[in-house]
Amino acid sequence: MSVAAGPTRGALVAELAEVVGAPHEARFIVDEVLGLGLVLGLPNVPTGPLDDDTVAAARHLAERRAAGEPLQYVFGHWPFRGLDLVVDRRVLIPRPETEQVAEVALAEARRLGRGAAGAGVVAVDAGTGTGALALALATELGRPVVREVWAVDASPDALEVAAANVAAVRERLGDALPRIELVLGSWLQALPPALRGDVDLVVSNPPYVAAEEWPGLAPEVRAEPRRALVAGPGSDGTPGLGDVEAVLHQAMDWLGRSGTAVIELAPHQAPPAAELAGRLGFGDVRVEPDLAGRPRALVARVAR
Ligand SMILES: C[S@@+](CC[C@H](N)C(=O)[O-])C[C@H]1O[C@@H](n2cnc3c(N)ncnc32)[C@H](O)[C@@H]1O
Repeated sequence: MSVAAGPTRGALVAELAEVVGAPHEARFIVDEVLGLGLVLGLPNVPTGPLDDDTVAAARHLAERRAAGEPLQYVFGHWPFRGLDLVVDRRVLIPRPETEQVAEVALAEARRLGRGAAGAGVVAVDAGTGTGALALALATELGRPVVREVWAVDASPDALEVAAANVAAVRERLGDALPRIELVLGSWLQALPPALRGDVDLVVSNPPYVAAEEWPGLAPEVRAEPRRALVAGPGSDGTPGLGDVEAVLHQAMDWLGRSGTAVIELAPHQAPPAAELAGRLGFGDVRVEPDLAGRPRALVARVAR
């Protein structure tokens, strides 16, 4: 039986701050174990001694964090826009930049939805990982704006995580959710051939870190799957642009007459990617900034 004779929440946070080396992370850990999540100012924050099980669980998480595991993997879940996503070593940890890319994709989907004469948008998330972008589209727009979302990944491990996230959301939202299909394979080539020319929106956060950068990345980042982060050079030699280029090329084949590709990239990749989109025949090309003002989302509209 667990006994409430341990340190208080404040004392445990102070103890674990020494272990993990960051007071805010220690507080996240204690509050995670207490079920308070990442939200500040909640009522029912315990003021008295904590029970042994809570203290032991928090110390265990702090040890994992101190050993270099990213906090998101230690918790096993992490927020992305309004979603609470399962996150573990099999997948990239969704980033704030990608929340902003989702914002751009949602705006494009709304615009396309208006033109789709009520049929609903067919969207593809190329390289879905946790399913973050696919689920943002499916939950924030829902039916009838979005008809179906195809979430592709080349990693069977990542698709297992995406499937768990889709199942959790479906249990919560049921029929309000559009059809979501998970597909194993490489980019858009993995889609059923019947979809070719019928896709309205391709959203993607492909790997875009150059192989040369990998050794210099923080150990927490290198705890993530390498194939989720690292891409080869573009055809013009731009470091890390290879997968952005592959998605853009394939998007041109799969998008319909008025479709859009929204692709996350590194700021230095924006000029060559925009130039490539123009060469491929996209009619209206721009790059949207992230919240820090850096070029982050290539938006390439088809105008056939
Ligand atoms: C940067 S992560 C993005 C994950 C998720 N969309 C997000 O934004 O958090 C890139 C994803 O692309 C996947 N990927 C890598 N190469 C791929 C390919 N050839 N075809 C499909 N997916 C691929 C990786 O497995 C990984 O899940």
